[in-house]
Amino acid sequence: MLRYLRFAPELWTSEVNDAVVARIAPQRGETAMDIGAGIGAGTMPAAKTGCSVVAIEPTPYMRRILGLRTRLFRVNDRVRIVDGTAEATTVSATSIDAAWAVNTMHHWTSLRDGVSELVRVLAPGGRMLLVDEDFDDPAHPDFEKFGAKRAEGHEHHFHTVDPDVVAEALTAAGATVTFAGIDHIAGRPAIIIEAKA
Ligand SMILES: C[S@@+](CC[C@H](N)C(=O)[O-])C[C@H]1O[C@@H](n2cnc3c(N)ncnc32)[C@H](O)[C@@H]1O
Repeated sequence: MLRYLRFAPELWTSEVNDAVVARIAPQRGETAMDIGAGIGAGTMPAAKTGCSVVAIEPTPYMRRILGLRTRLFRVNDRVRIVDGTAEATTVSATSIDAAWAVNTMHHWTSLRDGVSELVRVLAPGGRMLLVDEDFDDPAHPDFEKFGAKRAEGHEHHFHTVDPDVVAEALTAAGATVTFAGIDHIAGRPAIIIEAKA
């Protein structure tokens, strides 16, 4: 909890989440899913577009803050907060039109399970956008905060995701991958995987 408190400002709102929501463009009437929603950096801008959002979040205090936030900003009627993980969302099959995950892939305990769960919950043609910022790139503005420490072996709690491995797992699960690689989003280097169910 203390570790995450340090990152509270970036978890409240982030340009990367804004860009992800803009790129996946949830529409009014659609159901979107934010995987590892945290305290709502992606869920909140998505809900403001008028779509419904299922916010999957395994950490209780994150869910509590997100719950307060959705009530404070009066989008709680459109946001369902779910105790789940990428690997087990508990969401019904083919019920989601658009799903994204920002900076959570490195937490997934099983890539294969996360990928097959995504393919299960997405409606045919449903879109997905998976983004992990590349803190290992010295050009990333937070390289000193995360990447450099990691290179020194101080930060063991996350590993770098290989976009090709994710793309391979998605293809094997039946999704159509339209992009997998390192690119920039909101001016930051990131591992990006974009696909359709
Ligand atoms: C760095 S935060 C990012 C939160 C949010 N997506 C954002 O961009 O602000 C990582 C989040 O992933 C969640 N998480 C941890 N394990 C997870 C899993 N297996 N599946 C989905 N989310 C997970 C954590 O509880 C945390 O809220």
